[in-house]
Amino acid sequence: MRTIEIFDTTLRDGEQSPGVNLSTNEKMEIALQLERLGVNRIEAGFAAASPGDLQSICNIAKRVKNSTIVSLSRARLQDIDKAWEALRDAESACLHTFLATSPIHRKYKLNMTKEQVIENAVAAVKHAKKYFDLVEFSCEDGSRTELPYLIEVVQAVVDAGARIVNIPDTVGYTTPAEYGNIFTQLRNHVRGIENVKLSCHCHDDLGMAVANTLAAIEAGATQVEGTINGIGERAGNAALEEVALALDTRKDFYQATTDLKLEEIARTSKLVSRLTGMFVPGNKAVVGANAFAHQSGIHQDGMLKESSTYEIIRPERVGVKATRLVLGKLSGRAAFKDKLVELGYQLGQEELNEAFARFKDLCDRKKDVSDEDIVALIDSKLVDV
Ligand code: KIV
Ligand code: ZN
Repeated sequence: MRTIEIFDTTLRDGEQSPGVNLSTNEKMEIALQLERLGVNRIEAGFAAASPGDLQSICNIAKRVKNSTIVSLSRARLQDIDKAWEALRDAESACLHTFLATSPIHRKYKLNMTKEQVIENAVAAVKHAKKYFDLVEFSCEDGSRTELPYLIEVVQAVVDAGARIVNIPDTVGYTTPAEYGNIFTQLRNHVRGIENVKLSCHCHDDLGMAVANTLAAIEAGATQVEGTINGIGERAGNAALEEVALALDTRKDFYQATTDLKLEEIARTSKLVSRLTGMFVPGNKAVVGANAFAHQSGIHQDGMLKESSTYEIIRPERVGVKATRLVLGKLSGRAAFKDKLVELGYQLGQEELNEAFARFKDLCDRKKDVSDEDIVALIDSKLVDV
């Protein structure tokens, strides 16, 4: 069983979600919860971006002891110096520097030749190594970079001392097979790669961030970057809770695990949603309000007989109290009876049939039938009698 390390970038890439702006205190609250969740690395911000970001990273670096604290930095010496200023008090620190490698970015954004990109990347890593033992280099837009050139860049930064190499799918463009192949080729062609952590970082523009992440793991990636609830730039990043639960639920297939305390997932998700103001859709995998709710009579009946009929994750596994059988027009008699017992009613067969008929009537008039509605439905009848 391999252990996949979790690099959480909720506070950096996640904060790049349009409309999100976390205060220093809010960032600290999230960082402490991420530490409780057991993430290996917390990217706390981008020190050179603003004095506020630098201060937040600095505060988090002083307080969080069980996760490595990371600052992002462009491949510029002044950025790296700022990151060191923010991270110098950390128990465990990592500098994450990046430079775009793809032809589109080289031509239109950087106006640099291939050689200049390598030269700048190597200079950044060498400068960072003066301060940091752990240096990560990201080939921005790596998934749209010519593979032989990507191998050249990775070889150069590994030789310069990078200990983590990340291949971001910056614009969420790649496919699982294509992305997996990049990792396979890097492992086959970069000298010394076995001494380096290979990291994946996927965006969700085509809804494939988690699938691409899992493909990279299959192809040998040992670090996963992502955010809680999948928040992030544009359509967001790979949702870490989904990756972790895929590995946990399908251990038989992936043969990989993480250090996460999975029962902290629901709490972490709620905290991030509340502080960022980014609502989690009800049908969102793992952390959506409906992820452990069953509405149809057939499913509810199956769940009452044996939960593995329709549930592949036990709610307690991620810190959710219990499965919910939602009562509505599709619910069957078994779920209705189960709810009555839960609410403290023991009805005879005839009373149950009659109450069930009135419940179905109510469902046609009311979309959501709550516990209070059912109590009222039964009690009004008991009063009539
Ligand atoms: O998506 C991306 O390319 C990034 C890098 C800065 C790592 O977030
Ligand atoms: Zn990103």
